[in-house]
Amino acid sequence: MISDSDREKILIVDDEEKVRTILLSHLENGGTNCVTASDAFDALKKIKNQRFSLVISDVMMPGMSGIELLRLVKRQDPETAFIMITGLLDLNTAVDSLRTGAYDFITKPFELLAVRRAVDLALERRRLLIQNRCHQEDLERKVQERTFELNDALYDVEESYKITLEALVMALDAREHETSAHSQRVREYTLTLAQNFGLNHDELVQLGRGALLHDVGKIGVRDSILLKPGKLTDAEWVEMKKHPQIGYEILQNIEFLSPAAKIVLCHQERWDGNGYPNGMSGTDIPLGARIFAVVDTLDAMTSDRPYRKALSFDRALEEIRSGAGTQFDPQVAEAFLAIPKDAWLAIYASVNRKYQNQACIDFICSTSNTYQ
Ligand SMILES: [Fe+2]
Repeated sequence: MISDSDREKILIVDDEEKVRTILLSHLENGGTNCVTASDAFDALKKIKNQRFSLVISDVMMPGMSGIELLRLVKRQDPETAFIMITGLLDLNTAVDSLRTGAYDFITKPFELLAVRRAVDLALERRRLLIQNRCHQEDLERKVQERTFELNDALYDVEESYKITLEALVMALDAREHETSAHSQRVREYTLTLAQNFGLNHDELVQLGRGALLHDVGKIGVRDSILLKPGKLTDAEWVEMKKHPQIGYEILQNIEFLSPAAKIVLCHQERWDGNGYPNGMSGTDIPLGARIFAVVDTLDAMTSDRPYRKALSFDRALEEIRSGAGTQFDPQVAEAFLAIPKDAWLAIYASVNRKYQNQACIDFICSTSNTYQ
């Protein structure tokens, strides 16, 4: 394999043939491949067809100066090293050439040893700059690859969380036979309504989990109460009202679910303070829980219950309108009512198609088989 050093080539530009010949012979004797050009135009023609590691150019040349040539060379390939040959007393030009990007300058008449030293230093500096750039590019590529891998891994973890949580709530929903897919629907309703409140991606993920798991605490409520077809007694209500606290306690110590646990704890609170378990009111109730409260009512009213058939969406919208400012945060209720009814109906139909009834049970069975 040819190394960068093996490919190094120098272009010598000077209108004096004698200077070109001396430099060519000296540098080629030192083992470097060289090409000469008799002026800046000749140099540009040669640069067009081949890449040079270094250009050594006289300043004063007919037609175009060495400084102008330097500008054009740098524009075409900023990594080309450039050494300017200046007159002994022309210090200003030397400074100008350094400002324009030359690595060094040598003064006429020059000593060949000084030329060799300047050439070696310029080539070495260029090699280091190229090495540095390659290293930087390599580093950036590795960072990008690792970022992709990490994102893939995070996506897999997120998916595993999602599937596990969905299996859990399907089992919970299946326990309350009449409310199949309730948790999935309220999650979708919640996320749709939440789009009006400027939440970021993480907040939406947590809110979605809170909505999905809102009734996880019902796992601690006896079947005789949870599945009772008639009205609950006062004592039974006391037990039923413990479910937000039970849910909170289940989730709060699971790191990835602890933000969602607060939604679970507050999902039965009311704007006017008459909710449970803590009687919170107004904006003391987390926004996510206030959003959830509205869509939970929508879903509860539009689902069959042991003691009544599902009510119409219009009836549910009316209930939410009349509960604004008492049961519900008025701003959340207003945002909810501004969304067309058809949007809610579409979510209702799509979630039911995906999750309801036998499909749910099939899903839970297949999921549990996978892990046997
Ligand atoms: Fe609940």
